[in-house]
Amino acid sequence: MSSTQTKKPLDVIGLFPQIEDIVDADLKRAVIEIWEELWQASKWQDINDLQVSAEIAYPHLPHAQSVVTMALAVADAFAKHHNMEVNRDHLIASAVLQDASKLVEYEPGPEGKMRRTSVGKNLPHGFWCAKLAVEKGVHDEISHVMLTHSSGAHKFPDTLEGKILYYVDQIDVIGIFKDRWEKHIFISK
Ligand SMILES: [Fe+2]
Repeated sequence: MSSTQTKKPLDVIGLFPQIEDIVDADLKRAVIEIWEELWQASKWQDINDLQVSAEIAYPHLPHAQSVVTMALAVADAFAKHHNMEVNRDHLIASAVLQDASKLVEYEPGPEGKMRRTSVGKNLPHGFWCAKLAVEKGVHDEISHVMLTHSSGAHKFPDTLEGKILYYVDQIDVIGIFKDRWEKHIFISK
């Protein structure tokens, strides 16, 4: 997959103003660069055409923005009520990046429906973004979130930041689509 650099750059901070709060300047720069590189490598001309998934025909951008907002609200509640500090740099970077791979995992298809690209068909969700992050020296805990945040991932996220994002992502899907969780009762000896 190659980048053609023919599209107008995205205003990444305009889309996700919380990036401004990332203290680590290298991480902040990397988050912006990764989004921009994925945008340039994608087939999308309008970011608003990207949907949450082929199944969920709802625009991706407000979903991603809501997930960032909710994740920081959870971090604020932990700090206020439990005096518990979350790594906010990692939380913001992970929240902004965890679904950025969708830009290259999907492309516009016929009749306004999006379809999977070769990356989307052949590689795990989040892989391409994690690859760019590793190449740019982003902390592995952030790539870990990208690779574990989806319900189809091989394991749950290990970090508190990843667990917050896992659950707020699911909560937002309940709001925009439906509750996909089922209760199963297991009896152990
Ligand atoms: Fe995702």
